[in-house]
Amino acid sequence: MDIKALISKMSFREKVYQLLQLTSDFFSGSGDVDLTGPIQDFKIAPEDMKLIGSVLNTRSAEDLIAIQKKYIEQNPSGIPLIFMLNVVHGYRTVYPVNLGLACSFDTELVFECSKMAAKEAALEGCSVTFGPMVDIARDARWGRAMESSGEDPYLGAKIAEATVKGFEGDMGKYNLATCVKHFAAYGAAEAGMDYNTVDMSERTLREYFLPTYKAAVDAGARTLMTAFNIVDGIPAVANKHLLCDILRGEWGYKGLIISDFCAAKELMAHGVAEDHKAAAEMVMNAGLDMEMMSVAYINYLEELVAEGRVSLKQIDDAVYRVLKLKEECGLFESPYGHLDLDEAKAVILSEEHRAIARRAAEEGAVLLENDGILPLAESVESIALIGPHTDNGEIIGKWSCMGKPCDTVTVLEGMKKLYTGSRIECARGVFAAFDSKDESGIAEAVKIAERCDTVILTLGEEPDDSGEGRSKMYIDLPDVQYKLLDEIYKVNKNIIVLLFTGRPLSVVRLREKARAVLCAWWPGTEGGNAIANLISGRVSPSGKLAMTFPYSVGQCPIYYNHYNSGRPRPDDQRRYNYKCAYIDGPNSPLYSFGYGLSYTSFSYSEVKLSDTVLKKGGKITASVELTNTGNREGTETVQLYIRDLVGSVTRPVKELRGFERVTLGKDESKVVSFDIDEETLAFYGQDLQRRAEAGEFHIFIGGDSRVSSPAKFTLV
Ligand code: BGC
Repeated sequence: MDIKALISKMSFREKVYQLLQLTSDFFSGSGDVDLTGPIQDFKIAPEDMKLIGSVLNTRSAEDLIAIQKKYIEQNPSGIPLIFMLNVVHGYRTVYPVNLGLACSFDTELVFECSKMAAKEAALEGCSVTFGPMVDIARDARWGRAMESSGEDPYLGAKIAEATVKGFEGDMGKYNLATCVKHFAAYGAAEAGMDYNTVDMSERTLREYFLPTYKAAVDAGARTLMTAFNIVDGIPAVANKHLLCDILRGEWGYKGLIISDFCAAKELMAHGVAEDHKAAAEMVMNAGLDMEMMSVAYINYLEELVAEGRVSLKQIDDAVYRVLKLKEECGLFESPYGHLDLDEAKAVILSEEHRAIARRAAEEGAVLLENDGILPLAESVESIALIGPHTDNGEIIGKWSCMGKPCDTVTVLEGMKKLYTGSRIECARGVFAAFDSKDESGIAEAVKIAERCDTVILTLGEEPDDSGEGRSKMYIDLPDVQYKLLDEIYKVNKNIIVLLFTGRPLSVVRLREKARAVLCAWWPGTEGGNAIANLISGRVSPSGKLAMTFPYSVGQCPIYYNHYNSGRPRPDDQRRYNYKCAYIDGPNSPLYSFGYGLSYTSFSYSEVKLSDTVLKKGGKITASVELTNTGNREGTETVQLYIRDLVGSVTRPVKELRGFERVTLGKDESKVVSFDIDEETLAFYGQDLQRRAEAGEFHIFIGGDSRVSSPAKFTLV
């Protein structure tokens, strides 16, 4: 189709309206859509509704069909709307929140999950997902850590790539275009407070925060969303350096750039634009194509063109990108995209899709503690299942798109299916809300615990405690949950804790009384089945933390790939003065990046290098022999870390540069090898150019980021 010819026939008004995206309640008047920002009263004339470019967050396929039908009958150029939706961790069949999924370290699984979500959403008429969210999250106070892949740029980049490829495929019938977000560095908000200041050096930005966006762009993401925050004093939505120099310039990105909800208007609150018109000028000149939920373009572009502040070509280019996307999504062939409600019915929540979601919940769960109480034999006589998330479909997690708690297998349901011979008694005990002080259910819970063999406690956050705008200054469990634990401990010491959360929690106190702690995150539609499989040992836990669990909130932000400092703390046991240390607690986290237990154990041989000298342009191999030394089959994620001992700029104490999931039977061994070349060692030097520098390197291979005993080689 000749898009340029189409644009040449469009009126100016038609063009600028194509650059606007509104929520579906503007069209359907249903008023119950997922608003992720302030409600807006734009007073758009009814006759202009037929010109708007895009719709976000429709309620249902029926909603979408009705909106498109009316629109297409009226649009003067026969241009259809394009529908975008937060298909974040599933569509109707929901897999674990992204942070949980990342803990699987399984990019093939991420690909499968994305493919599944794309298929369900595409068959219900959606064209674009607002994902992947690839913001690096180092601060557990930030509620949106839940949507991220955690703290590591290497892991994050691999997941970003798998997500984009899974969703977009070949952009056929079952695919969606992706929208990588939130560009850039949204996860680095000061004090973990959403929308807050982001201020970092260009080096830190490039080294740690940009690689995930770049990976998504390189994988072919067709759209990109700017972030709410400032970067070096300039809001991302108006940041020329980010959008023009880096994204379009250095990375050669050709797709659509869309703002986040209302972000163009927020330039006024940021204090960089005096009015809406100035905001329109700034964002257009920075390269923003489409505004989400703000109306700077439709109201001011005409004046700005007349005044020569914005050119017609800029507007035509932006419109071109909108229409090109519509074409690539097949909307000019059919305004309903690949909508097929019969087929949708057949695949949505199908056993095949549930199996993928279940596997994801199983692989993403992280076993944090276990003294051997887990796995729990299916022959156990009685189980007390206690806590706010025991029979709660809300464990599907927030931002679950069309997912429904009523389609979700609860922990109780999952356990009942597996432990058919056991007596299962349950009680809520307490509420999960962070401000709940209600202890009235504890007595009954204690009675049940007293007469059962084993207690499973379902503790954690409320689902709504993480996600957008859900920053916290307290990331431990509320006191009332510890009270429940303490009282139960008095009558029964066989306690297993299931932790439901969207962020790392500083649950140090759990260790004192729980014999096992399994972090299930928000596990999605198949949560209860997956949890029962893990508890019973039908599946051995294999998840590894994609984000550090702080010992205390005072350590935030905390991440494994930190610098050494000039005065590193020798160990956590003693108190040190004049060291880079806390006087009232450890430097180490509660649980490190990459950490997670299994029901079996693994041993690692020493790291072998194919050579102790790596020549520029060459390659060496690092390998270990991994042995399953326990009593059953299990899966281990073997992790490769490097340390560059001396650089032109300081280098982290460790950096993840490879990982591989390996499944081994009892007594089985496997040699796992990683190639190391200059790319593995490259970083941004003093001149901000990325390259490897000659010198000595350490290589660590192990089961988490605390691994020691490196092999050594020199790059010459
Ligand atoms: C969020 C985005 C989301 C958008 C549309 C915003 O508030 O930051 O992540 O895609 O709303 O719902």
